[in-house]
Amino acid sequence: MKSLREALAWAEKNQVAIGHFNISDSEGFKAVVEAAKELGVPVIIGVSEGERAFIGLQEVVSLVKIARGNGLDVFVNADHTYSMEKARAAIDAGMDSVIIDEAGKPLEENIKLTKEIVDYARSRTKGRTLSIDSQGSTLVEGELGFIGVSSKVLEKLPDGVSQDSQTKPEDAKRFVEETGIDLFAPSVGNVHGLVKSGQPKLNIERIKALREAVKVPLVLHGGSGISDEDFLSAIAAGIRVIHINTELRLAYKEGIAEGLKSGEIAPYKFMETGVEEMKKVVRERLRLFNKL
Ligand code: 13P
Repeated sequence: MKSLREALAWAEKNQVAIGHFNISDSEGFKAVVEAAKELGVPVIIGVSEGERAFIGLQEVVSLVKIARGNGLDVFVNADHTYSMEKARAAIDAGMDSVIIDEAGKPLEENIKLTKEIVDYARSRTKGRTLSIDSQGSTLVEGELGFIGVSSKVLEKLPDGVSQDSQTKPEDAKRFVEETGIDLFAPSVGNVHGLVKSGQPKLNIERIKALREAVKVPLVLHGGSGISDEDFLSAIAAGIRVIHINTELRLAYKEGIAEGLKSGEIAPYKFMETGVEEMKKVVRERLRLFNKL
């Protein structure tokens, strides 16, 4: 697969979802890429503003270039980007996609800011070595409907997330048409983080209605804690990318804690258990999303 656009078309044809996993360092990268390689499926590496500040924007792009050079279908997404300047920097770095997250703003403002990034991405088509999709530009994802902001363990549902905050098909249609985005992230009962008081169920009927209303692939954020049954119904209803972060962060932390107990001081030894624990999560999710 030469591009993320091509991978998305493949997912649509096969009625599966591409797994998107957030990382902050080379150990996370190793875990995600090795698990995807074992299973022979495409995968998206996600780096939020904070995550890419830690690993380095150019550094993560270079790692992905190397993996692509080795024949692996690995793509990189500038996840939840709130600053216009950082969205432009991600496009300039040649990332495969960028998410401009203005979901907390009113619809009009969200449309205006998202469109600004779409126009910028479209204008930057020359000299690309990483993002080589058919239009030669970084794909842009927009979000509509609030789903919280933190990939962590939460006591309860974040304020502002409710049945009412779920994305309405008529708003989605307008948002996608007026911005010209390539991917769309709605609010359909999904929430960022693991909710201790109980993860909400996905609104599968709403996903079907959104699928009818918009022409671009649908992305499900807030994948941690969602049941296998809900995932499969969401994929059947039209979800083509699924984001997982909190589950991976927990597995990594627990794995490193286990590794440190051995008294080892060589990082490649005590970190190895962290990588292995992350790989277990990635493998399990990729098997489900790709119906393997
Ligand atoms: P979770 O932390 O709930 O898995 O959400 C991740 C996400 O959507 C990142 O974009």
